[in-house]
Amino acid sequence: MKKYKNIGIIGAGSMGIGIAQIAASVDCKVLLYDQNKNAAKSSLIKLEKILTRLIEKDRINTSKKDSILSNIIILDSLQEIQESDLIIEAIIEDSTTKKELFIKLESIVSKDCIFASNTSSISITNLASSLNNPDRFIGIHFFNPAPLMPLVEVVPALQTKESLVQEIHDLLLDWNKSPVVAKDTPGFIVNRIARPFYSEALRIYEEQIADFATIDFAMKEIGGFKMGPFELMDFIGNDVNYAVTESVFKSFYYDPRYKPSFTQKQYADAGWHGRKTKRGYYDYTDNKNSRMPLKDTNLLNQIFDRILAMLINEAIDALYLGIATRNDIEMSMTKGVNYPKGLIQWGEEINFSKVVKVIDDLYDKYHEDRYRCSPLLREKASK
Ligand SMILES: NC(=O)c1ccc[n+]([C@@H]2O[C@H](COP(=O)([O-])OP(=O)(O)OC[C@H]3O[C@@H](n4cnc5c(N)ncnc54)[C@H](O)[C@@H]3O)[C@@H](O)[C@H]2O)c1
Repeated sequence: MKKYKNIGIIGAGSMGIGIAQIAASVDCKVLLYDQNKNAAKSSLIKLEKILTRLIEKDRINTSKKDSILSNIIILDSLQEIQESDLIIEAIIEDSTTKKELFIKLESIVSKDCIFASNTSSISITNLASSLNNPDRFIGIHFFNPAPLMPLVEVVPALQTKESLVQEIHDLLLDWNKSPVVAKDTPGFIVNRIARPFYSEALRIYEEQIADFATIDFAMKEIGGFKMGPFELMDFIGNDVNYAVTESVFKSFYYDPRYKPSFTQKQYADAGWHGRKTKRGYYDYTDNKNSRMPLKDTNLLNQIFDRILAMLINEAIDALYLGIATRNDIEMSMTKGVNYPKGLIQWGEEINFSKVVKVIDDLYDKYHEDRYRCSPLLREKASK
């Protein structure tokens, strides 16, 4: 008998319904609650369409579709979630609203029920503090779209009972996911280490070293990234990506390494959010997408070396600070954001001393703390 059979999910937005699909696919019973019942219903209709497409593509059969849908029950009231063994919260990203919900839930469910939050940016330890029994609280951070993205960050709060981390890790393996364990620090693993991909690209643009198309071309052509930083920001949405950067920056007590970009703020303010508004760094209306990169080998290498060095520095620093194990850091970036290889391995391949030189040259040029080299990177380079 499985320990986590009845899964309560609160919030039936894009994440909630995705997580519901994952749990229902492995035959869990999903109790789905949204304060807006229409939102839950329309999410279920969307899921039905997704499953029909999966049948057309021969990825699942009709009986699988029926069993997934029959495993998901939309609740009329929060009270009905009481049978849950594990509740995953995926409501709006607001700490007060989330805490109020957990306080209510604690009075509804049994003392053995585990609580999890899918938050991207709120401290798990802080959320756990709203409970009488904070040791049953943990972060389970899925990536969007949850059914397609294999990576899940498991984030114990300071108060989380130790055995729960392994239990949730194993549960996610049963759910066919690739779990990693992250320390409860801003951005967890992926949203911390990936910051320079965007911020250093924006900085290069702001310094008029290169335009969007050239920077994107450098990262794709030399680095093998599937999308360049500007294409990716347009895909994620400048509003969303800017909000994550700002939140990470504030949570790190304004460490200049995570400083947001004025350019991106303006794009977000202008409503130039990217693909979804048909205008971002690129124009997505008609065929106006003239992206003519400057194919100057020296310039392309300079861009690539600078962004990659900053990413490797960030990954090594996360290792230095015990944010996650080396394996989990590498897996996070390859499975969470599809990087062509693990950043630490990449540093080894190109030689850490070369990475240190790029960072130190930047520091010499700017004298900004943003370009400080991780002590562990320097140590590795000296070996
Ligand atoms: N969208 C992403 O890319 C992404 C990725 C990882 C994590 N997250 C996190 O997942 C959570 C949900 O994000 P989303 O994009 O699915 O949001 P969303 O806006 O698509 O959905 C949120 C849903 O929660 C419901 N809701 C709001 N307050 C509620 C309450 N008090 N009780 C019950 N239902 C309530 C809303 O009606 C809505 O349907 C957030 O914490 C977000 O940070 C989002």
